[in-house]
Amino acid sequence: MTTDMMNDIERVLYDKEAIQRRISELADQLTADYKDKNPIMVCVLTGAVFFYSDLLKKLNFPLDTDYIICSSYAGTKSTGNLLITQDLRNQIAGRHVVIVEDIIDTGLTMYQLINNLKSRNPASLKVCVLCNKDIGKKQWDVPIDYCGFVVENKYIIGYGFDFHNKYRNLPVIGILKESIYT
Ligand code: PRP
Repeated sequence: MTTDMMNDIERVLYDKEAIQRRISELADQLTADYKDKNPIMVCVLTGAVFFYSDLLKKLNFPLDTDYIICSSYAGTKSTGNLLITQDLRNQIAGRHVVIVEDIIDTGLTMYQLINNLKSRNPASLKVCVLCNKDIGKKQWDVPIDYCGFVVENKYIIGYGFDFHNKYRNLPVIGILKESIYT
């Protein structure tokens, strides 16, 4: 048995340099839009922590950091069911808020999170995601204001993305070998 997690990657989609290059471009966009707004940057734990950390190091203007742990309820037609296991520490009313997330798949988590945070009356609310999964027409359509990559509809791992909580610390984003999960 090998301990080299890279062996479990079928194909690398984005290497370290490509990831950092794209994050720098997103940081430039955010800087243009938020440098005078002292935004609250909300990290959606756990997966987004790598992206969040690299992104914020490239933002050279005042901001507040905050974190939320949440998951969506699937199954019903619900629009507001979000299980929050750790909520924000800041009050966001009247503040400019940017949600920083690792991936939008079906869109349900983000749909519910947006509804939840909007009800707290922020001055503005925008969404910044590293990856938007290309699954065709999404059932839960959410606005994505800043998007790093559109990724194919495969099992992706690395740079925060996991399979049973493994592979998050790989420095690249890649497709998991099918033999690992079948
Ligand atoms: C992942 C991801 C998003 C959500 C996207 O979270 O981080 O929050 O799924 O899927 P959706 O668009 O279909 O709702 P996960 O529950 O795997 O938690 P993690 O961040 O801890 O990996």
